[in-house]
Amino acid sequence: MSITCADLAKVYEGGHAGWPALRGLSFSVDPGEFVTITGPSGCGKSTLLNIIGLLDEPSGGRYSLNGRDTATLSDQERSDLRLQELGFVFQAFHLLNRMSAIDNVALPMMYAGADRAEMRERAHALLAKVGLKGKERKTPLELSGGERQRVAIARALANSPKIILADEPTGNLDSASSREIMDLLYGLNADGMTVIMVTHDRELAARARRNIRMRDGRIEP
Ligand SMILES: Nc1ncnc2c1ncn2[C@@H]1O[C@H](COP(=O)(O)OP(=O)(O)O)[C@@H](O)[C@H]1O
Ligand SMILES: [Mg+2]
Repeated sequence: MSITCADLAKVYEGGHAGWPALRGLSFSVDPGEFVTITGPSGCGKSTLLNIIGLLDEPSGGRYSLNGRDTATLSDQERSDLRLQELGFVFQAFHLLNRMSAIDNVALPMMYAGADRAEMRERAHALLAKVGLKGKERKTPLELSGGERQRVAIARALANSPKIILADEPTGNLDSASSREIMDLLYGLNADGMTVIMVTHDRELAARARRNIRMRDGRIEP
């Protein structure tokens, strides 16, 4: 699934009109790429990732997913794409703390209408894939930060997305856990998944084949 952004702009309603969060970004990402996005706090990284993830809409320019202008998508098409083709990983995990790890992972499958037995089997396999075999019944609060992020990655993989969008996924983790999470993301990319990751960590960005550097809502040349 290819991503093409042309002259993308974003002005938040209620934000400073004179200070758009994005001011004309153009770039594309080919299927299977691993791209990091870096830049100072407030430069628009999360805004960009949210637009790519169809969680928000640009105020100007065009964002096309697999050649289709996303402005032409219906709400239903947008949410189907979010559920089926895009996987999200956030700095603060965004897990449901009252549900077990396996139920967190199964949730997107439930929304997608998966068969119950199949759902459990797949959630089990995904937790094993991220190294959490035996911890299926634990709730997020019983897990370490690194383990929580593994659950979040397993959940992101629930409906076999083509693109993983990660917003500072290692921002709350110590360096050992960060490395493990990065290894997981690189492993997914090696399996063919597109990964777009926002990071503060220059060292992590240096490892990616491609880095997009942002500043003041633009891409630095
Ligand atoms: N929901 C919002 N409403 C108004 N302004 C926002 C909103 N979200 C972000 N902003 C502003 O947009 C700019 C870019 O923010 P953001 O994309 O979160 O940057 P980054 O992720 O690089 O730190 C900042 O000036 C921020 O204050
Ligand atoms: Mg951010």
